[in-house]
Amino acid sequence: MKLHTNNNLSSIVSSGTRVVFVSNHDRCEYYMKDDASSVLQVGIKDKTPLTRRRFITLVRRVVREIQARKIASVCMVFDDIVGVLDVGFSHVDALRLFAENTHMAGYEYRVYKEKPKDGWGTLEELTLFGDFRVEEKQALVVGEMVAREVNACRDLANTPGGDMTPQLLAREIIRASKGTGATVKVLGKKEMETLKMGAILGVGRGAKEEPKFIIVEYRGTKKRAAPIVLVGKGITFDTGGLSLKPADYMLDMHLDMSGGSAVAHAVFAVARMKVPVHVIALIPSAENAVSGESYRPGDVLRSMSGKTIDVLNTDAEGRIVLADALTYAKRYKPSLIIDVATLTGASLVALGTKANAVMSPDDTLASRVCRLGEESGDYCWQLPLWEEYKDMVKGRHGDIANIPIKNSREAGTIGGGMFLAEFVEGPWVHIDMAPRMVSCAGDFLAEGAAGAPVRLLVRLLEEEGKKTL
Ligand code: BES
Ligand code: ZN
Ligand code: ZN
Repeated sequence: MKLHTNNNLSSIVSSGTRVVFVSNHDRCEYYMKDDASSVLQVGIKDKTPLTRRRFITLVRRVVREIQARKIASVCMVFDDIVGVLDVGFSHVDALRLFAENTHMAGYEYRVYKEKPKDGWGTLEELTLFGDFRVEEKQALVVGEMVAREVNACRDLANTPGGDMTPQLLAREIIRASKGTGATVKVLGKKEMETLKMGAILGVGRGAKEEPKFIIVEYRGTKKRAAPIVLVGKGITFDTGGLSLKPADYMLDMHLDMSGGSAVAHAVFAVARMKVPVHVIALIPSAENAVSGESYRPGDVLRSMSGKTIDVLNTDAEGRIVLADALTYAKRYKPSLIIDVATLTGASLVALGTKANAVMSPDDTLASRVCRLGEESGDYCWQLPLWEEYKDMVKGRHGDIANIPIKNSREAGTIGGGMFLAEFVEGPWVHIDMAPRMVSCAGDFLAEGAAGAPVRLLVRLLEEEGKKTL
């Protein structure tokens, strides 16, 4: 979709179907009416200010309804939206959200589909009328850049497991990095053996293809400040291993590298935006497969940290691969580590499909991530990571167990966080993004990967960039 701006309202007649926004508190919460062939009326019920959250869903809903009507070209008047609907935040903010969410709503995963004879019915052109200041136009440009990375992240995550092995993931990340200013380095099995990454190697053992350790780096500042390290789970398919998943639970497990995809594309976004920040994304990638070579329940793996992992369940593999990545992160002496992972089904039990679960030993950091979640649209909710939960990771024959010996049904998401905490030094936040792995009803996004939490990570890195200036 092309998003243009135009400050000459007299040319509105030639700019496609006009979308008109009205505040109509007597009618239903939301309606869209085809008045005449060239006007679409969008009505919003009450007088309460359009919050960021409602603004985001409104923008997406309108785009998706336009696409359902197979309209290729539309125009809107920005003052109609922010004035008539009473937007309760700055125009710069609104324009960034507008650009991000129109592009996100326009996305569909079509790589494996044949184009229908009458076309896809995508919205090709959106003209936004208004007299925009330089910062406002810039907000649109930035919003579009971010959304393009969010959508590229969704494409990568949506790729079926058969076409997304660790090697292919590495190749795709290298390809996507071209022209961004970020660099990619990939470690193979030999190098991982030299580094003694027994945890990743253990998880990847059952697969035909060897695991990979993908390192994406962007140096946006010449200052020698400590970098930020992002760590993303890169399991290209999670069968559960010998602790095999039931069929229904396995279906979406090609998306188990969503965290890895998100951290890579967040780095590409800030690289394209030239944010003055030094950031490294680490993606431990393996396939959790079933074969005669697979690691077994009861195996004890020696991680890169030297600590041994008591594998009580081979389906809790994400935390195992992350253990080595978190250990590897130490060499950068980072000012902050954020890991992003589709770590636990329990997070969906706790939060449903609406929020990422956030955990950190530092409440201020967790609150900061939750605030950025609110600002970006990648909503988060904090769970505790208290030392009172430490028993959950007590090992039997190894130092640390990957699931609790007893009561494994309790606080599964916190258990995942407590395990990771054993491998971290310094400021750290854990984002269990399993609830936001795929879009849900009410998101007004295409089925499949939701692209979380790329927007949140970008905002965090932008905030860090402001500190370096
Ligand atoms: N990748 C899954 C978690 C998951 C489930 C993500 C559903 C997205 C949607 C993870 O590797 C896993 O299987 N976790 C286990 C942990 C358990 C064995 C402690 C789980 O959640 O059941
Ligand atoms: Zn698993
Ligand atoms: Zn998994």
